[in-house]
Amino acid sequence: MAMARRSILWVLLMTAGLMAAPKQNRIIINADLGKDKINREIYGHFAEHLGNCIYGGFWVGENSPISNTRGIRNDVIAALREIAPPVVRWPGGCFADTYHWKDGIGPREQRPAIVNSTWGGVTEDNSFGTHEFLDLCDLIGAEPYICLNVGSGTVQEAADWVEYVNSNTQSPMTDLRKRNGREQPWKVKYWAVGNESWGCGGNMTPEYYTDLFKRFSTYLRYGELYRVASGGIDPDYNWTEVLLQKTQKYQHLIQGYSFHYYTVCHTWDKKGSATQFEEKDWFLTLKNTLTMEGRLKRHIALMDEYDPEHKIGLIADEWGNWHDVEPGTNPGFLYQQNTLRDAVTAALYLDIFNNHAKRVKMANIAQTINVLQAMLLTKDDQLVKTPTFYVFKMYKVHQDATLLPVHVSCEEYVSDGMAIPGISASASRDSLGRIHLSLSNFNPVRTAEVALEIRGVDKLAKTTAEIITAASMNDYNDFGQPEKVYCKPFTGFRMDKNLINVSLPAKSVVTLEIQ
Ligand code: AHR
Repeated sequence: MAMARRSILWVLLMTAGLMAAPKQNRIIINADLGKDKINREIYGHFAEHLGNCIYGGFWVGENSPISNTRGIRNDVIAALREIAPPVVRWPGGCFADTYHWKDGIGPREQRPAIVNSTWGGVTEDNSFGTHEFLDLCDLIGAEPYICLNVGSGTVQEAADWVEYVNSNTQSPMTDLRKRNGREQPWKVKYWAVGNESWGCGGNMTPEYYTDLFKRFSTYLRYGELYRVASGGIDPDYNWTEVLLQKTQKYQHLIQGYSFHYYTVCHTWDKKGSATQFEEKDWFLTLKNTLTMEGRLKRHIALMDEYDPEHKIGLIADEWGNWHDVEPGTNPGFLYQQNTLRDAVTAALYLDIFNNHAKRVKMANIAQTINVLQAMLLTKDDQLVKTPTFYVFKMYKVHQDATLLPVHVSCEEYVSDGMAIPGISASASRDSLGRIHLSLSNFNPVRTAEVALEIRGVDKLAKTTAEIITAASMNDYNDFGQPEKVYCKPFTGFRMDKNLINVSLPAKSVVTLEIQ
């Protein structure tokens, strides 16, 4: 009886248009229509001299009781190799515009100790410098990406750094490098000309910065360089337009344009806890991340206008969730825990970058260890792999694969009278012809039944899948505890010719491999 009454009420509400009919979750992949490569550099990292990212995170020094290779933690090297980091950006961030690279070369005991006045006012003893960073990149198999000091440095200092690192011809800089134990140049390709020059990098106007950018870039020589110009604060389209317009005649000097975006759940003053949050915070974090796509598209539209031949790449060299620091930690160290919410947000960011791979050529999550949305957390000799680490592990199948167009039509996820799409997705085809589809269900309480159709293939032979989820949206991995959030095999799908029905669990990230 009660059932019958509910059905009548449902019909009445539907007829009155007060309740939307549940939309089917339908995804179509056009497996034969891929054109653009997902550059592996989209899966890049960022390591700044900030809190315990470098010191204690990567670097413990050769004499540490913690197992290391030439001062770099072996547990970190092994963990990072699992996610195949393609590129690491260093030494900042805001720190870069205070960094004088000559402080960080030569015998370590002779290097000056300075104050890291940007982050926490702590002593920076310069024991981790250019040689150590480039050794680290070799050890984890990543390309280095160095950010030059434009804010408080000189053109000569920047030009000398590139020469020191890249030149093979005898000169004071190459002699110095050889005296410091490195015979062959490293051939570093990626160089950023300043960081956030609208703010901590010098509080410049776009006009002033563009002139400085051209001046610095002119004197960066030695090798095939990829020079990245600083973008404005994320919604500053005027900065983008001024810079692109004023560099039009100098396209040989600019190969990349930087874009930063951080997701803040509430406000910059009160961001919210990384672990103590409710569904409304979960929802807002995803909603605020989705805002990023609109901004990215507007910057891309300007780039398409001024650079229709796609010579300049969009370099999203800082991104991620920015929460309040963990209680009791140094506020200048930006140390935060990392939950399932961070994993789902990372998947959303990576889907957006994948889907804009035609213009987005690199992205660097902030930051690799112990800072902001980290892959790894360390405490003395212990190491934790965060939920975000597992997303990078799961998504590495997209590195250098061909982006496949995906059409998503899905139910909305509604919270507090606000709505966002319930599902995020991106897909690619690798060099062996395998299709990888990543899917996230944003709804923290409802399974999404997804009808997936693969077009442009003869017959599907086999599908396997992995999932990241947890019992609670606040779950995280902690020191000395069994992991709660990690990748495991997933079998919640049924194949029927070119159709796959997926039961996508609430609050999960899944990647299917379809052959
Ligand atoms: O990643 C932390 C800081 O955020 C970086 O140093 C700066 O570039 C950005 O504002």
